[in-house]
Order: sequence, then structure tokens, then C-alpha cells
Amino acid sequence: MTEHSTVVVRPARSVAGSLRLPGDKSISHRYAMLAAIAEGTTRLENFSTGADCASTLQCLRDLGVQWERDQDLVLIHGRGPVLEAAKSPLDCGNSGSTMRMLSGILAGQEFSSELAGDDSLSQRPMARIITPLAAMGATITAANGGRPPLRITGGQLKAIDYQMPVASAQVKSAVLFAGLFADGETRVTEPVRTRDHGELALRGFGAEVKGQGNVAQIVGGQKLHGIEASVPGDISSAAFFLCAAALFPGSQLVIDRLLLNPTRARLLDVLAAMGTRLSVTQLEEQHGELVGTVQVEGSDLRGTTISGADTAALIDEIPVLAAIAPYTKEGIEIRDARELRVKESDRIAALALNLRAMGAHVQEREDGLKIPGGQKLNGAKIDSLGDHRIAMAFAVAALRATGETSIQRADAAVISYPGFFDALESVAQR
Ligand code: S3P
Repeated sequence: MTEHSTVVVRPARSVAGSLRLPGDKSISHRYAMLAAIAEGTTRLENFSTGADCASTLQCLRDLGVQWERDQDLVLIHGRGPVLEAAKSPLDCGNSGSTMRMLSGILAGQEFSSELAGDDSLSQRPMARIITPLAAMGATITAANGGRPPLRITGGQLKAIDYQMPVASAQVKSAVLFAGLFADGETRVTEPVRTRDHGELALRGFGAEVKGQGNVAQIVGGQKLHGIEASVPGDISSAAFFLCAAALFPGSQLVIDRLLLNPTRARLLDVLAAMGTRLSVTQLEEQHGELVGTVQVEGSDLRGTTISGADTAALIDEIPVLAAIAPYTKEGIEIRDARELRVKESDRIAALALNLRAMGAHVQEREDGLKIPGGQKLNGAKIDSLGDHRIAMAFAVAALRATGETSIQRADAAVISYPGFFDALESVAQR
């Protein structure tokens, strides 16, 4: 696909087939970062093929970490806790996860680092990591009102007891990673429970992480050891296919080796409550992460409301749920979702803009959207605004629209799922 490419999506009759998704982005970032500061070699199969995780790997290389990659197989040779100063600014690309979580590790390094990103990342809030990491003793400056680029000078840290004001798994992981370099026990309390991959990954690499519910605790100075793992399929990428199948009564889709961690799999409950038939088989646990095969059958969809802790749990799946909302019976209301305004794009605005382009009625609110059901959508020109999840969400809406939809800047999908449009074509029945 060329830069700024346009992809045309034609309507489908149904969705059928079976898929295996590239490795989960959240887990791939964390495994790569922890592998870098572990002793020994880590072998990761089904590592995310997205550009975001490639940004993490490149930053690690710039910090003196050796690794080899053959497509989705990555071998990372851990250095132990001490990294090497990078010779130039670390390029985090489009990836907030890279910048925020790597900052946690850099806060514990006795050198200075600069972290920069693309235009989208340069607009995203970093005060949320600057505050706790500075409280632990790192010196961090942001050039531009709490936004990237960041400059971090790290060293020996002190443990903190931190109450997170924003529900963010990236912040939680950054503080726990920094906690490895602190004297004493670092404790993080989140306002609502977010994905726990940081805690599970730390345990997988041999650290003890205590706590339950909204609290996690780690004692500094623990050694990590390399692991062998196959990264479970990315459920946030699977969301596009699960919703596509859910849209057409009679669709049948199977996704195997999918991540089913309960802090990530809320979409399955929501789709089931909306009328989709789902079954899960071959459940197993790998390094604390639940994995299984999901079978989905489409039917007429009822509407729903997503708010509070559900909004946090579904934060990456809301774009596709909003994009299919007009096709549901009662529509979908999304509340408490102010965080969506500071993702790779302002996703509330991007959803309203593109739903309206397809002819839908939408109410846009400061912290959400109300999208009435029972609407027909027309094929239209969609602007992804360079945001991967917006590009993919509207490709799904396009399957049930009247006429063709052209998605501008569709190449943004490479951030999390380079093969997305081919995979969608492979299951769309016409
Ligand atoms: C992520 C957490 C979420 C999510 C992002 C990945 C993670 O971000 O939107 O795609 O891997 O921890 P926040 O931590 O900003 O909520």
C-alpha cells in the first residue's frame, strides 16, 4: 500500500471463514520492553506485526538492546537492568504505548534520553506519566505543555504510593516498570480496573507483583528472566471482524488463539447482550494470559449503553461499536469516554464526522456519542484522520452500507494490523 492510500470497500452479504490475528499489541510492547531488561534471551512468536511495536523494537535497539526478527518471530537478547544511552532522540512514531511505558524504564537509567513522535503523538498528553515518574525521582521535561518531545534523566528511584487520576493501563505499567528501579515497594491504585498485561508480563518474566482489583504493588530490585511465548491474537484487532460478523444474520466466523484476558474481552459480553451468538472453546492460559477460540454467529442486533468502567474496558473497541451502532435496533450510547478525545485522533469527533458522511444522525457530546439505531448508511468518502482504528471501523460499517465506501488514509491500519484490508476481503461474502 502506498502512503496515504485509499481503499474502496464494497457492501457484503455476510461474513464467513476463519482467521488468526497477529499478536496483541499491548502484550507485544510489554514483552519486548521487559525482555530488554531481563537476563537471557526471550523468544516471542506471533509478535505484533504493527508499526507501533516496530517502534518499540527500534527504540530498544537504539538503547543498546540486540534483537533479531523474522516476520512475527522475535528474539530479544536481554541486557539486564542497565541499558545504554541512545545517540539520537528515540522515535516512538505513532505509539503512545511506546513513549509512556518506555519512559518508566528510562526513569530508572543513569543517563538522559529524548523521546519524540509523529504529529499525532506530539499532541498527546504526557503529564500523566511525568507526574508519577518525577515523584519517583526522575527529571522529566516536556517541550510543549506536557506534550512530546520528552527529555528524561533517570537514576535510582524511590517507591511511591500513587493514586492514578486517569484510568490508563499505559500509566500503570510505566509506574510498575519504574518500580523495578525503586527502593522499596511501589503501589499504584487506579480509578477503575484497566488491562492487567503489565502485571501479568512482569510475573511472566519472574517478578513478584502483588495486589488485586484496582491495586498493584511491586518491590524494586527484582531480577527478570527471559521467556518463551507465543503472543495471543489481538482482541482489539479481532473486534473489527467480530463486529462485522455480528452485523449480518447468518454470518459464521471463527477466530483461533485469541486473547481472552477478562480485562480485555468485555466486547464479547457486549456483543452477546446485543444478540450475537458466541462460543469459546480451547481455553488455555499462557504466562497468565487467557487464550481461546471464539466462534461468532450474526443476528439482528439490539442497542446498548456503554458507560463507567465498561467504557475504560472497551476503550479501543468503541470506534467499531460506534461505527456499527446505526445498524442496531435501538442504537448505542457511549458515555464517560473523554479519553477518546486524546487517542491517535480525537476519536469522538472522527466518529461523528464519518458517521455523518455516511448519512447517519449522531449526537456528539464532550465525553461521548449517542447514535440512534434503525438507520441505513450510504457509501461515502471516509477520512481516517490517520488513525488506524477509525480506518478499520469504517471499513466494517461500509460492509452494510448502500454503495461503495472509499477510506482515505487507509494505510493508517499498518499501525496495529498491516494485513487488515486483505483479511476483511477474505471473510466478506458477496
Ligand atoms: C493500552 C492502553 C490504552 C489503549 C491503548 C493500549 C495499553 O491506552 O487505548 O491502545 O497497552 O496499555 P491508555 O492507557 O491511554 O488508556
